[in-house]
Amino acid sequence: ETAGKVIKCRAAIIWGDKQPFSIEDIEVAPPRAHEVRIKILASGICRSDDHAVNGTISNPAYPIILGHEAAGVVESVGEGVTNLKPGDKVIPLFVPQCGECRCCKSPKTNICVKTKLGNNTGLMEDNTSRFSCKGKDIYNFIGTSTFTEYTVVSDANVAKIDASAPPEKVCLIGCGFSTGYGSAVKVAKIEPGSTCVIFGLGGIGLSVVIGCKVAGATRIIGVDINPEKFAKAKELGVTDCINPQDNTKPIHEVLIELTGGGVDYAFECIGHINSMTSALLSTHYALGTCIIVGVAPKSSQISFDPMIMLFGRTLKGACFGGFKGKDCVPQLVSDYLAKKFDLDGLVTHTLPFEKINEGFELLRSGKSIRTVLLF
Ligand code: APR
Ligand code: ZN
Ligand code: ZN
Repeated sequence: ETAGKVIKCRAAIIWGDKQPFSIEDIEVAPPRAHEVRIKILASGICRSDDHAVNGTISNPAYPIILGHEAAGVVESVGEGVTNLKPGDKVIPLFVPQCGECRCCKSPKTNICVKTKLGNNTGLMEDNTSRFSCKGKDIYNFIGTSTFTEYTVVSDANVAKIDASAPPEKVCLIGCGFSTGYGSAVKVAKIEPGSTCVIFGLGGIGLSVVIGCKVAGATRIIGVDINPEKFAKAKELGVTDCINPQDNTKPIHEVLIELTGGGVDYAFECIGHINSMTSALLSTHYALGTCIIVGVAPKSSQISFDPMIMLFGRTLKGACFGGFKGKDCVPQLVSDYLAKKFDLDGLVTHTLPFEKINEGFELLRSGKSIRTVLLF
């Protein structure tokens, strides 16, 4: 019985800028009011964790426990937590759903005022930490921190899922899969028969492909500079693969020619400003929609001729595929269990948690789509 007690366990800590992960013994304090302590069972390695390691996106002070794509089991709950109990299988949410703020009350967005993506304090709502190591407080990451055997999150940052869901697969619903899939089915709301292009065939781009296919798109074009990504992309439903480096013309011109005037939907899943502009320009000038999914380096800027918007193109962006976590994550897990889509193709590697640095090397070398760490 660990409820109400400090738990000693292992976590992967980043002690400073560009440092590797270091497996340490840590103490995890009991959950306070409206908090939940979770035993992590599986955690995926996402590009955004690597962005945080490199300082590409904003991140709080070190030391920090990263990780945000996981599945686990509730160990104990703090005062006032009514909808979760020990033993519940859960997915932590980096986009919370408090249910009370202006955004949560609007069907137009999945963002919640409690979202800490641009302004991560690394602390719980009462400005304290639940993690300590060698007498030092450790910061958390975007309200989740899943590279640890136990974590504590706010109850707004948890979705309860089906008890039979395999954690080593459904952890991807905690970020990568939902981000891509939702961009297609929820943000773009692709109609059957559409023509789509996906820039970047990593874990996010391939999840967009799965969404395009489920939504009934008939032409799904994949763009990547790494031709090793093409075989898997075709397995998942991509009809044409294009390597921009094989063409002398700008890629948007190639795509406009190939599709007789531009695509219905373009998705940028790389995080480069140049490919964001290419994605926008590859859409049909009147009825096309471009969706920014990739995360560009902090303080980057895009410029384009505003005339290109004047005939009715749409440019939008979304995080976590536009899904409100508490409402949609349990359903996504059920859809997976009902075989509406498959996650197996996205998981290329599984490693024991201690080999986390090896997992990040696989990501950096382009060899993995997703590595799942098992606890
Ligand atoms: N043109 C085309 N493809 C490119 C280019 C380029 N200039 N540069 C990189 N790529 C390809 C890579 O070869 C890789 O297949 O883009 C893909 C990116 O995939 P991953 O690195 O696996 O990243 P992923 O996890 O899919 O995330 C993509 O979304 O959530 C964000 O932070 C994330 O910005 C990142 C993006
Ligand atoms: Zn992620
Ligand atoms: Zn809210």
